[in-house]
This record gives sequence, structure tokens and C-alpha cells, in this order.
Amino acid sequence: MSKKPEDLMERIVSLCKRRGFIFQASEIYGGLSSCYDYGPLGVELKRNVKEAWWEDMVTSRRDIVGLDSAILQSPTVWEVSGHVTGFSDPLVDCKVCKARFREDQLDSQVCPNKKYKKRPANDCRNQGFFTEPRQFNLMFKTFMGPVEDSASVVYMRPETAQGIFTNFLNVLNSSRLKPPFGIAQIGKSFRNEITPGNFVFRMREFEQMEMEFFCPIEEEPKWYEYWVQKRFDWYTKLGVKADKLRLRPHGEDELAHYSIGCTDVEYLFPFGWSELEGIARRTDFDLKRHSEASGTDLSYFDELKKERYTPYVVEPAAGVDRAAMTFLVDAYEEQEIGIDKKGRPDVRTVLHFHPKIAPITVAVFPLVKKDGMPEVADEIESLLRMEGMRTFYDQKGAIGRRYRRQDEIGTPFCVTIDGQTLQDGTVTLRDRDSMEQVRVHREELMRTLKERIANF
Ligand code: GAP
Repeated sequence: MSKKPEDLMERIVSLCKRRGFIFQASEIYGGLSSCYDYGPLGVELKRNVKEAWWEDMVTSRRDIVGLDSAILQSPTVWEVSGHVTGFSDPLVDCKVCKARFREDQLDSQVCPNKKYKKRPANDCRNQGFFTEPRQFNLMFKTFMGPVEDSASVVYMRPETAQGIFTNFLNVLNSSRLKPPFGIAQIGKSFRNEITPGNFVFRMREFEQMEMEFFCPIEEEPKWYEYWVQKRFDWYTKLGVKADKLRLRPHGEDELAHYSIGCTDVEYLFPFGWSELEGIARRTDFDLKRHSEASGTDLSYFDELKKERYTPYVVEPAAGVDRAAMTFLVDAYEEQEIGIDKKGRPDVRTVLHFHPKIAPITVAVFPLVKKDGMPEVADEIESLLRMEGMRTFYDQKGAIGRRYRRQDEIGTPFCVTIDGQTLQDGTVTLRDRDSMEQVRVHREELMRTLKERIANF
């Protein structure tokens, strides 16, 4: 079995397709580059990622509320935010193979032309094959209404954040919050990336989880530090290995046009350390710009201090797809657990998902398809489902193979109903990671599962 990192990524992509996590978009028509569809398990994984984020950022706190703003906004929003003029990447063309590259990422890109044996794009630059860089705006444009002229151009949002800034006053007036407080949003964003790739890591249509935290200016350094640590801890709390995560403060030359500082949470993917999310110090840039351009005062009057000020903003901005991919990659393991009947190593593929992230929490099996076992299994599965557990019922095939199928999609617990269940009401509870099996009375099953999930 090859252990090369690129093979590992290929095997994860293949598992995603085989088991229904992620498919290439428009696959039956040859696929649409850098766009992906989430299948039955992938959509549950993604829902769990978003739910875990929302719970951590919104429902477990008093000081953050949610928002769901439109993807299409007035084009003025993007002119004022600086995206029309500033949201671009430097693009270069290779005169030899005609491939396009981001000039600032030549070190990590390879020539896609097979003739050049995937040599690093930088080699081509050293030989002077590239055109002069030109700025390429990343926003997708479309037209609103029946006339396709410059007056009807609108943009697909490249970040969810601007919808939060333009609603600052609406939320302030309707929620009775005062700084420090935050507004959180999850939703789709679109970027016409020059070099998408690495599966769902960089796509042209993707989903973001962003929160703008508005605070008095003097409190901003404290909140910045707080959010950097809190966001790092979110990944480890959900099972991501701490030694595969790091915090990386941005250099001056990397900062976005609106920010005075930023720290990325990075993960060590098979293709190297890469950004999962950024925690940015956006200052009062956006609120001030929108105040000036719209004529609507987006400042806050502090009644206790008798002063008016424009809050500073700390922004943790994460990607749903990158987080889902991180949970997949980090959870993936090929474990040798013995020797098979033919004397070869017996390898099980397992996803060690945290139960909060796993698409299915518990699978229920009758040991055999007779003697009343399917009826009891069906009853137990329905009860667990009614209690809010994500369940799966399977009565086909050898029991060992059914366990392996659940290991491969990361189901933490399996419950088997056998002959003994019919006599004394106990079932077998199997743990995915240790493969240990214990007998539990069916009356105790729900409590035992909840306890195990809480202590995971
Ligand atoms: N509002 C700030 C902002 O949008 P960003 O660093 O450009 O900041 C935030 O994006 C997060 O969105 C990234 O850390 C990443 O997780 C995700 N993201 C950005 N571009 C992406 C893309 N092309 N494909 C997938 N995820 C992307």
C-alpha cells in the first residue's frame, strides 16, 4: 500500500465518492471544474459542521446573534467595501503551455501540461516564459432584470461579511445589544479563483461561517487574542489533532485591504500547511466607509460614557467546506488489525469522527434476518431516532462486513440485536475506535450512548 501524501488525498477523494460524501458537480456532463455536490453523507457532515459552529458562536452565548443576508446586494456595497477595485489576484500566463497561474503562488503550483512532467511553475518564470502580471478581479458578475447592460450589473457576494456591516444598525436597533457584541452568518460565497484545486479546499462556489465582533476601540486587542484562541480550540474540541493545527500571524505584505492584522488557523493537509480560517482585525474600516457612502450613521452612542464612536471589528472567518475537509482528512485512518484468511494484512479504513461531526451516530443491526430479530432491531432503531439520534438500519450481509461499512463512514456506535436480546433484553454495543463490544440492556441504551457522546 502506497503511503505517498498525494495517494492519501486520492484515497480520501475516492472514499468520498464511493460512500456518498462528495461528488464532482455536473459529473454526467464531464464535470464543472472546482464545483462539488455533497451527497447524502456529505450533507449531514456539513450540517453538523455548521450546527457545531452556530452552537459555539450563537446559541451558547448572550452576546452574539445571527443573520442571513442576501447573496445579491447593491453593487455600491462592493464599490464601498473596496472589492470592486481591490479584490483581485495577480494573474500570469505561460507563453509556452498557455496555462494561467497566480503570480503570488508560483512556488506551490505545477505546470499542468503533461509534456513538462508537472515541473514547478516557478521554473517557467525563471526562464522568462511568463507574461507581465495583470490584476484579475475575483468577483462573479451577473445581470439583474431583463436588460444586460452595465447599469444592471450585480455581483455574487465574495464574502458574507458585508451583509453584516450593512445591517449593523438594523441589528443594533432591533436586538437591544450594545458593544461588545457580534453578528454571525453562514452562507454561500463566490470567487472566480484563478487556480482552484485540492478537492473542496479552493472552489469557486463555497460556504463561509463568519462573525463580526463589534467592540470599543480600547478592547479590540483583548478580543482579538480571545477569538484567535477560541477558534483554534473549536477544532481541537471536535477532535482535530492539535499537532496538525497551528496559528500563523500574517506578515504585513499578506494583509487584506481592510485589515491591520490577521492570524490564520492552519492545518497540515497531505499537500502542506494551509489556511482553515482567518481571524482578522478589520478596525472601523467597513462601518466608516459605509457610513460615509450611504449617509447612514453606523456609529454607536454609549449612554454611560456619553460618547459616540464607531466600533472596531474582530472577524473570525471560516470556510464550511475547508472545515468539513479537515474533519475528513484528520479522521481518516487505514489500520492494520490482523491477518486475513489469505494471510495478507487485514486493513480496515476508519473515519474517527467526533460524534458531533459524524453523519450517522448509531447503526442498528439484527444479527440475522430471522427469528424476530429484524422486528426488535427496527423497534430499537425507531426509538433512538425519535430521541433525536441520527441512525441507520442495515440487515444485509455478514455482521463483520456491516461493522466495516460503518467504520468507513465514521459511525461511532453500532448496536446488534441477537438471540440473547430476545431472551434477556440486552444488545451488543460496539465502539468504532476500540472495536470493543459490551452488552447493554436496551432500556439503558439511550443513557449509555448519551454518556459516551458527552465523554468523547
Ligand atoms: N470576510 C473575510 C474573508 O472572506 P477570507 O480569508 O478570504 O476572509 C475566509 O475567507 C475563509 O473562507 C477562508 O479561511 C476559507 O476557509 C474560506 N474560503 C475562502 N475562499 C475559499 C475558496 N475559494 N474555497 C473554499 N473556501 C474558501
